[in-house]
Formats: sequence, C-alpha cells, structure tokens
Amino acid sequence: MGIKNINKKIKSPLNKTIDFDINSDEYNKFIKNCIIDDESFLYYKFESIKNKIINGDTFNVLKKIESGIVDLLIVDPPYNIYKNYNGYRFNEKDSDEYESYTIKWIEAVLPILKSNSSIYVCCDWKSSLIIGNILSKYFTIQNRITWQREKGRGAKQNWKNSMEDIWFCTMSDVYIFNIDSVKMRRKVIAPYKENGKPKDWVETENGNFRDTYPSNFWDDISIPYWSMPENTSHPTQKPEKLIAKLILASSNENDFIFDPFNGSGTTSVVAKKLGRNYSGIEQNSLYCSWAEYRLKEADINKNIQGYIDNIFWERNSVKFNR
Ligand SMILES: C[S@@+](CC[C@H](N)C(=O)[O-])C[C@H]1O[C@@H](n2cnc3c(N)ncnc32)[C@H](O)[C@@H]1O
Repeated sequence: MGIKNINKKIKSPLNKTIDFDINSDEYNKFIKNCIIDDESFLYYKFESIKNKIINGDTFNVLKKIESGIVDLLIVDPPYNIYKNYNGYRFNEKDSDEYESYTIKWIEAVLPILKSNSSIYVCCDWKSSLIIGNILSKYFTIQNRITWQREKGRGAKQNWKNSMEDIWFCTMSDVYIFNIDSVKMRRKVIAPYKENGKPKDWVETENGNFRDTYPSNFWDDISIPYWSMPENTSHPTQKPEKLIAKLILASSNENDFIFDPFNGSGTTSVVAKKLGRNYSGIEQNSLYCSWAEYRLKEADINKNIQGYIDNIFWERNSVKFNR
C-alpha cells in the first residue's frame, strides 16, 4: 500500500456523494450505457438517442440529430467564469466572446426544437446580462425566475453571489404550462379562520400549511450537498427539485426533454423519475458515467428530495428529508 492510499480521505458513512473515478469498476460498467460519439455516427434518429446520454462535444453532436424532436430544452451552459470540468477547462471570456459562444449554442439547438417547445436557460447575474439579451432575439421570453441558492460563492471585495437566473422562453405563444403540477406547500404565518374553520389552509400535527401557486422567486431549493443521494462531485450540479419544477410545469408525460450540457445528468434523471423521455450531451465521460449511475438508481428510487405527494415543500420543512 503506498502513501497515496494511506492519505486517502475516509468518507463518512452518511456521505452519499457519487464520486467514483475512471479507474473504477463502476466507471467501466456505467460508461457502457452511453453513446460515445465519433465520426462513425453520421446521423442520430430520434429513436436511437431516446433515453440515452451522448458522450461528445455538443457542437459536433447537435449537427447530427434529427430535427424537430424536442418538447422541452433545459440548458445549463458554462457561466462566464473559469471552471475546471474535470480537466475540460472553461476560461472566462470577454463579453463579445461570451456573446458569440451563446449565439453558437443557441443556433446549434434551434433545429432540434419543435414549434411549441419551451426553453429554460440557467445563468448567474453576470452571464444573465448577455444571455437574456440574446435569448430575446431568438425566442419569446415568458419570464425570468430568480433562484436564491442557500450557499453562495464568497467574495471579500463584493457581495456574495447567492442567486441565479433561469430564463423561461418559448418558440411561440402556444406552449404547455401545468401550473397545478408545481404548487408549493408553505407554512401559514397568519392563520386566518372563518366561522372557526381555517380559510384556504390546513392544520396538521407538523404545523399549518397552505398550498400556493409558485412565483418567479424560488427560495425553497438548496444546492445538492454531501448527505443527499443525488449529490455527485460535479462542480456545478443543479438540484433535482429545481429541474423537477421546470419539467412538471413545461412538459407532459412521455414528452422528450433535452439537455445539451448534461453534466452529472440531473435533467435526464429527473425526466426519467417523472415519466418523460430524455437525452443529453456531455463532453466528459466521467460525468456521463455518474449520470448513468444515477439513472440506474432511478429505476428503484423515484424520490425527488423536497417534492412529496405531488407538492413542493419549503426548504427544511418537516417532511423534507423523507
Ligand atoms: C454548468 S454544467 C451543467 C451541470 C448540470 N446541469 C448538472 O446538474 O450536473 C455544464 C456542463 O457542460 C459541459 N460542457 C461544456 N462544454 C461542452 C461541450 N462543448 N460539449 C459537451 N459538454 C460540454 C461541462 O463539462 C459541464 O459538465
């Protein structure tokens, strides 16, 4: 046994982070489930990529995918900050360059969308200034969601960044929106009664709650952390609860959900848990194998933390950890 092994950190039994590496048996087992793109693939018909993750460069792969197949597109592109995606480095660009990069991926995804597709795009405040403006040239912007993450990126000379934007766009004014599928259960602060009975709220042993329609400000979702089964070592993983809201509101069962920057597979996993079809592209084979691991787990466990009995619960509310 070498020094390396002795120094290897021992994981707490409560730490559920998925973090196997490319030398592990798990990697070899799960990467086999992906399509590994290369020049021998000339064209991807819908049926060949349905419920498959593609390991490859999104700009190469998108050119080869059948047109007009996507009902809902979820995009979580690299924000305009330096990030090391397990060896694939994304360098901060000047505004013009980031604008060109944004136009490049939008024009690459356009052909695979349908005339009634919805599109969600995640950004931080800085990339949002560029992305929002460009999106308005290609799509109808319906809204901008602000997600208040619990943790933020620290800064000594500035306010900590602890919010993100999610732009909600559509191809036309005809689009799916299932508002009743994304109701939130909130604690009632001033429980008003009429004739001695609760008005629009329920009394439970855990407190008083009301089911409300969600606004475009989301403060009920934390970023994945080490004790959550969905957590991986991906540096910018999105929470399943956040993606679940997008999918439930803007698609129906069996619709096809696509993610061109698939990362650890959150979009694909949530789509599968909610009975939708999916596909996505990710350049990094390790992230693809983590995604496949999560997809396999989803065969036996369809729970989405914070979404219980068809309702989204407040952050840290009583039933949150079920
Ligand atoms: C912000 S992360 C997405 C994280 C994802 N939403 C999740 O929950 O794990 C962006 C991902 O895009 C991938 N990526 C960046 N450029 C790419 C490209 N040209 N082709 C394919 N994937 C790319 C990165 O490796 C990274 O995993």
